[in-house]
Amino acid sequence: MGDPLKPSEFVYPDAILSTAGHVDHGKTTVVLALTGIWAARHSEEIKRAMTIKLGYADVNIYECPSEEGYGRYVSDGLLNGGKCPNGDEPQLVRKISILDVPGHEVLIATMISGAALVDAALMVVDASMPVPQPQTEEHFAALTIMGVRNMVVAQNKIDVVPREKAIENYRQIRGFLGNTWASESPIIPVSALHKVNIDALISHINGRVPRRTVDVSAPPRMLIVRSFNVNRPGTPPSELKGGIIGGTLVQGVLRVGDEIEIRPGVRYQKGDKTVYQPLISRIVSIAYGNVQVEEARPGGLVGIMTELDPALAKADALAGSVCGRPGALPPVWTSLEFEFKPLERLVQREKMEPVKPKEALMINVGSATTWGLVTRAKKDVISVSLRRAVSAERGARIVVSRQVRQRWRVIGYGTIVGGDVALE
Ligand code: GTP
Ligand code: MG
Repeated sequence: MGDPLKPSEFVYPDAILSTAGHVDHGKTTVVLALTGIWAARHSEEIKRAMTIKLGYADVNIYECPSEEGYGRYVSDGLLNGGKCPNGDEPQLVRKISILDVPGHEVLIATMISGAALVDAALMVVDASMPVPQPQTEEHFAALTIMGVRNMVVAQNKIDVVPREKAIENYRQIRGFLGNTWASESPIIPVSALHKVNIDALISHINGRVPRRTVDVSAPPRMLIVRSFNVNRPGTPPSELKGGIIGGTLVQGVLRVGDEIEIRPGVRYQKGDKTVYQPLISRIVSIAYGNVQVEEARPGGLVGIMTELDPALAKADALAGSVCGRPGALPPVWTSLEFEFKPLERLVQREKMEPVKPKEALMINVGSATTWGLVTRAKKDVISVSLRRAVSAERGARIVVSRQVRQRWRVIGYGTIVGGDVALE
């Protein structure tokens, strides 16, 4: 392996685009058509043909100089032996990181933990089914709450529906998005499986996904969405590689050699008290995909190897934690008090019951998912004691879900106003 690239030698991804949509509508297949990468990486996912964890892949967007219209922009999935479809030399315009989320209802928390990171959404809708399906609606609510305001819709599987049905489905999508922030989102009919109209999809993604503005002078803050141990069983201790964290910087930069802190960190019992010990470590290497760089910046998804005991990072154990400079991270909360705003559609259409004491709620904060029991619910202010602590700023936005007929449903959002702090 050569030296890591200097920031001037590397084109950083400038945004994160998240897939959204009901189970099996073709999200992972659309990502494959765009990037040439099958984002499902876990053997269990491949066996069950279903996305379980967040997948990711970077899409390189190129311009084919002599082409016009939709053929002008292509991505890796459309290159032919490294060339534009017309034989031109492609010019790299930008990179976007794609986060591929699961559509199954029991995995809604995983989807929301990804929504906290993203700049724009790629909603995938199966053209052969009525709109909206439950997770199409649920994902859309989560995106709305997390403040995502840019979306492109891929109306997928047009190869299996007759023209009239595709038009009717298109109208249903427009109706669903009408009167929302997404009412002007382009809807692009595609067949991801047969790579039909993917060039049009790329053009619209390029036009709709804003480039993240980067505040490199702020103290670094990374939201962790995945973590793992890359060592094979039986590796001799002297050859063990440290724990890896994956996620995105929301501000600042991190460099190889920097000292870092990860919160909430390790949880243990001290007498009858649960105590949190933040992890302090150092950055060994930084990678975007398989390219090693000296510096991580806000924009795309990055993998960071640390000096941490790899066992601490295995199986996403650090997902939901935050990473930054020692002493500069937000408090760790064991209970939260928040101002609650229910989703209007539920209040109006489904006559939502108010939140009650002793009810269990699922709370998403940043990339963290936790559960809590309501200890107090007065008017719009709710308190919950958390099963697992979270690190977040006062004033942070949270997503609130409750269990309705055995599944979690997003019921609204909140703003943290207080709670019990385990670490200031
Ligand atoms: P989850 O991640 O489990 O929510 O599913 P997904 O939305 O990622 O769907 P996935 O990409 O795994 O595709 C589901 C099924 O639809 C697979 O069998 C795909 O081959 C099929 N599929 C995807 N796109 C198309 C398409 O354009 N046309 C047809 N006919 N089938 C498609
Ligand atoms: Mg999938």
